[in-house]
Amino acid sequence: MENTGTIRLGDENFEFPIIEGTEGEKALDTRTLRSKSGCITFDEGYGNTGSCLSKITFIDGEKGILRHRGYPIEQLAENSTFLEASFLAIYGELPSEAELTKFRTEVQTHASIHTGMHHHFEGFPSDAHPMAILSAMLNSLGAYYPEMSSNDREQDLAHFDETAALLISKVRTIAAMTYRQKQGLPYVFPDHNRRYAENFLHMMFSEPYNLYSDTSGAAAALDLFLLLHADHEQNCSTSTVRMVASGGANLFASVSAGVCALWGPSHGGANMAVIKMLEDIHASGDDGSRFIQDAKEGKAKLMGFGHRVYKNYDPRAKILGISSEAVLEGLGIDDPLLDIAKHLEKAALEDEYFVQRKLYPNVDFYSGILLKAIGIPVEMFTVMFAIGRMPGWIANWKEIAENPKSRIHRPRQIYTGSTIRDYVQMDER
Ligand code: SDX
Repeated sequence: MENTGTIRLGDENFEFPIIEGTEGEKALDTRTLRSKSGCITFDEGYGNTGSCLSKITFIDGEKGILRHRGYPIEQLAENSTFLEASFLAIYGELPSEAELTKFRTEVQTHASIHTGMHHHFEGFPSDAHPMAILSAMLNSLGAYYPEMSSNDREQDLAHFDETAALLISKVRTIAAMTYRQKQGLPYVFPDHNRRYAENFLHMMFSEPYNLYSDTSGAAAALDLFLLLHADHEQNCSTSTVRMVASGGANLFASVSAGVCALWGPSHGGANMAVIKMLEDIHASGDDGSRFIQDAKEGKAKLMGFGHRVYKNYDPRAKILGISSEAVLEGLGIDDPLLDIAKHLEKAALEDEYFVQRKLYPNVDFYSGILLKAIGIPVEMFTVMFAIGRMPGWIANWKEIAENPKSRIHRPRQIYTGSTIRDYVQMDER
């Protein structure tokens, strides 16, 4: 294939270079299209548009491939931990033992929240959505670390390593404190002797008279859940983080915006919607067959199914399906929702409507069953997704911040409103 492409507009040809990625993906570099032709491209939803060059994550949606810095997600799930995978996503290499110990110590050091922020929680109504609280608290966090949230790019980068560890640590603490505040329970301070996921479960569920004890492997399952959510190239929330970062905003503001983007039911909110869908099906006495029919008739959406990029099985869903079954078995829980989920999956994978549209289970399909088995309340599910995605958001912010040629993201549009007209006085309207 030539390394240029031609666009013909009317009777004129315009030639553009072709960019090729390390995995053979090709893009027509149309950065000079408007200056050369006066024309722009139109790609609502950006399904055919690359917004950046990135080295962090590679997805082949047709083949169901997901790799972080070249490492297949299946190998990371098998051999790594959330913190190790976070280091890989952010810094580009698996850490040495000394590097991982240093990173883990930095994360442990930053586990607590400034007591001034405790009052912020009290300002929210008890039924405030945890994602609203998380986004607000992450942005507020920057106010306590002005040296890391200066919006002076050089200064913010000089503090990057500490800011990254601090956010990975405190997003977990903020989530646990949100839960405790909404339950009317006293906050549980972090226990530096516990690893990342277990410390979160400790801060969520320990009581003075009964400290959390991980007897069922829940911490390992949660660590795997978080690892599987670590990054996913230019999804809606990560692209939002890059959009905000492109204007020069600090990391706190950028990830706070990422939380808002993740909240929607088409994106990270889907894991909550999956559980609600399964509970509704269970309550109706349906085994899922009626629901499948409704989805085919456009009356319902099979939440946790379908993906803009994966036109094959989401590899994370496969791993989460196995892990959720193992956790339920370890806890001795016989959850009817798992049976319904497996029935839905089987029925959909055999049904022409889903096969023709290449709709497969995505990361959200089984994750809710796993989180529910661990004891996480449904309204916190998307917060758990945000905790997992934090390293990916940080890694993408770093790529923007470290690129001296990075430009502010400012898409064009096609105007379809009223053409010019004169002002109409009130008595003539
Ligand atoms: C995540 O981008 C990422 O990487 C995201 C993510 C990450 O890690 O960051 O992977 C996490 O967000 C996973 C997706 C979670 N969302 C859901 O599970 C919600 C349910 N899924 C759909 O809303 C939908 O599949 C999307 C939003 C995920 C993808 O939407 P697209 O690519 O815009 O596809 P589409 O809506 O244009 O659908 C194409 C066709 C349509 O039918 P027709 O118009 O051709 O007749 O497929 C149908 C849709 O109606 N369809 C579904 C369906 N998803 C698409 N029909 C029933 N159930 C579904 N879930």
